[in-house]
Amino acid sequence: MKKFVSLLLALVMVLSVFAVATAEAPKKVGISMPTQSLERWNRDGSYLKAEFEKAGYEAILTYSDNDAGRQVNDIQNMLAENVDVLVISAIDAEALNTVMDEAANAGVAVIAYDRLILNDAVTYYVSFDNYTVGKLQGQYVETALDLANAGDKVYNIEFTAGDPADTNATYFFNGAFDTLKPYIDAGTLNVVSGQTEFQQVATAQWNTDTALNRAQTVLSSFYADGTVLDVWLCSNDSTALGVAQAIESDYAGTNPIIVTGQDGDVANLANIVDGKQTMTVYKNVMDEAVVTLSLVQAMFAGEVDGAALVDTFGVACAFDTESYEKTPGNKVDSFLLVPSVVTKDNLNYLVDIGLYEMGDDGYLTAK
Ligand code: BGC
Repeated sequence: MKKFVSLLLALVMVLSVFAVATAEAPKKVGISMPTQSLERWNRDGSYLKAEFEKAGYEAILTYSDNDAGRQVNDIQNMLAENVDVLVISAIDAEALNTVMDEAANAGVAVIAYDRLILNDAVTYYVSFDNYTVGKLQGQYVETALDLANAGDKVYNIEFTAGDPADTNATYFFNGAFDTLKPYIDAGTLNVVSGQTEFQQVATAQWNTDTALNRAQTVLSSFYADGTVLDVWLCSNDSTALGVAQAIESDYAGTNPIIVTGQDGDVANLANIVDGKQTMTVYKNVMDEAVVTLSLVQAMFAGEVDGAALVDTFGVACAFDTESYEKTPGNKVDSFLLVPSVVTKDNLNYLVDIGLYEMGDDGYLTAK
């Protein structure tokens, strides 16, 4: 009997040690970001890692240098490290199929972060309302030029869009183009180059030099004769940086040109101060990281009720089951944060939210 009791005690001890170990084993998150060469992903990567670690997770963070093959390897390594969940911002929405199958086979949930992955292994999509990003750019132009009351006036405009491998790029472009199309159709806006198709104005990998080169070509081909340019609608800041540089080097006119952007990259905020860029659509990526963590926590706690969950985030975020398809006909549950417009007039907003500092010279730096 004594022997039985001590055996039982030993068993209880083993079991309780096991229980403690199980309860305390930190969950592991694999965070795969596209590149460090585009400013925002550095912020996303470090915020995500810090937020997950603060919440007790073990976090692996990789950047894949805009190389889709390398991103596959990086994610495979994370799976080999037994991550419990993957948070991925894809370089190429269609290049991850093999590793997505591997994640699905391993039962690892995948959060498509900011950029959608076109694969059914995606569990949730966390992003901003990408169509609205473009719409805000278009509406900015519409208001700034008072297009609705322009009468016979004609304004000349060019477009620069993002990377075709990034699903966001078409949403941004369509949001802006749909907003301005009535004015293009009415002749109030004139796309002098005639380049109005996404593929014609796209910028592989959102590369600043690629945007610069195309802008220089457009300016020398269509504006060298003194034609006045009024607006260059750029989908984001990395492309706006190249376009602003081309305007400086290759545009002879002296009129102010509206240049749009997105992200609040530090160099672009400086351009806004200097009048070389007019606005940027700001997306608070700290909020995006916090929402991602809250979602993952809810997933591990049990069933996710998306509509109820968004009310707990503390930041404006829509639960959307209609807008995005991960494969044809197969919608993905999405959590979409709300973007906002930043211009020279409200730069202080970025300081007020605590993520940027303003120097005595009036320029902003990211904290
Ligand atoms: C992001 C933008 C960013 C772009 C290039 C997009 O997927 O949503 O914020 O400007 O990638 O990095």
